[in-house]
Amino acid sequence: KEIHQDIDQFVVSNKEQLEQFRLRFISRKGVVTELFEGLKTVAQEDRRAVGQELNALKNKAQERFQAFSEALEHQGNDAQGPAQDLTLPTFPNLTGTQHPLSLVRQRIIQIFERIGFDVSDGPEIESDWYNFGALNFPDNHPARDMQDTFFIEKKGEGSDTDMLLRTHTSNVQIRLMEHKKPPIRSIMPGRVYRNETISARAHCMFHQVEGLYIDRNVGFKDLKDTLYHFAKEMFGKDTKVRYRPSFFPFTEPSAEIDISCQICKGVGCNICKHSGWVEIAGSGMVDPQVLANCGIDPEEYTGFAFGMGIERITQLKYVVNDLRLYTENDVRFLRQFEGL
Ligand code: PHE
Repeated sequence: KEIHQDIDQFVVSNKEQLEQFRLRFISRKGVVTELFEGLKTVAQEDRRAVGQELNALKNKAQERFQAFSEALEHQGNDAQGPAQDLTLPTFPNLTGTQHPLSLVRQRIIQIFERIGFDVSDGPEIESDWYNFGALNFPDNHPARDMQDTFFIEKKGEGSDTDMLLRTHTSNVQIRLMEHKKPPIRSIMPGRVYRNETISARAHCMFHQVEGLYIDRNVGFKDLKDTLYHFAKEMFGKDTKVRYRPSFFPFTEPSAEIDISCQICKGVGCNICKHSGWVEIAGSGMVDPQVLANCGIDPEEYTGFAFGMGIERITQLKYVVNDLRLYTENDVRFLRQFEGL
């Protein structure tokens, strides 16, 4: 019995081990031969049965030996471990998932690229001029206040300008207009920072996509058409869109864009405060002074700009009710976006 077990447990994965197997169980000095010799001492009446047992053992050892040598032969090179069974299933392929904000950013880019916009990028650490000054924010504008903006360096303390974390991606619009002649048709996705207490509805870091279109004869109609197209592409063709007069220092006229609430479909919920409408973007015709600040002649060119929060678009698209979910890396949240 013990020898049966020994044979079963013997592992052969190279030629040396095969030889050890042979010496131990098969050769004339091996254990099986030894047992056969002991057969003489077994009582006459038991000899037949014991002989049969030993024959079975001998056959087993030989069969195993045969199988091992064939396996080794197939393997070719005896140094490479056991032969691979190519019919076995592979290890499950655990791929990660795309973050919902990345999914939505890519979708936004795709929608605008198809109608001729390219993608621009710019710095997250910015001077006052690119974040505020060039955009017509007056010196005493409350957005510059310490409550909203993370200042990194203040003017006078070894720096000739205030340095800050950008509060919107409009800085990229200014840099683009400074360096490129119209026509300009570009969107600018990126991170922005505001000094807010983190809660379900606010975060000190979030993402925006702004867009800019500057050319001859660009009018408010182009702005409306473009964002109308975007809303329908992003949320489906049944989505309703409305424009509300608003104010931004860098656009005139300005409008906020609302869409019909995607969460409650008009029935009424906390997200739309039971109005049936949710704001998705700010927009307007670029103020002539902003064009002039960037060296573009406002007599020759006009343009529109818009800006939206990617978190907000994602919230409406996938019903995400707490902004903090985006940055907590809880896989139970992230896995819900698998395969999208
Ligand atoms: N920059 C604005 C913001 O962050 C959004 C905006 C962009 C509004 C372009 C109008 C035009 O709130």
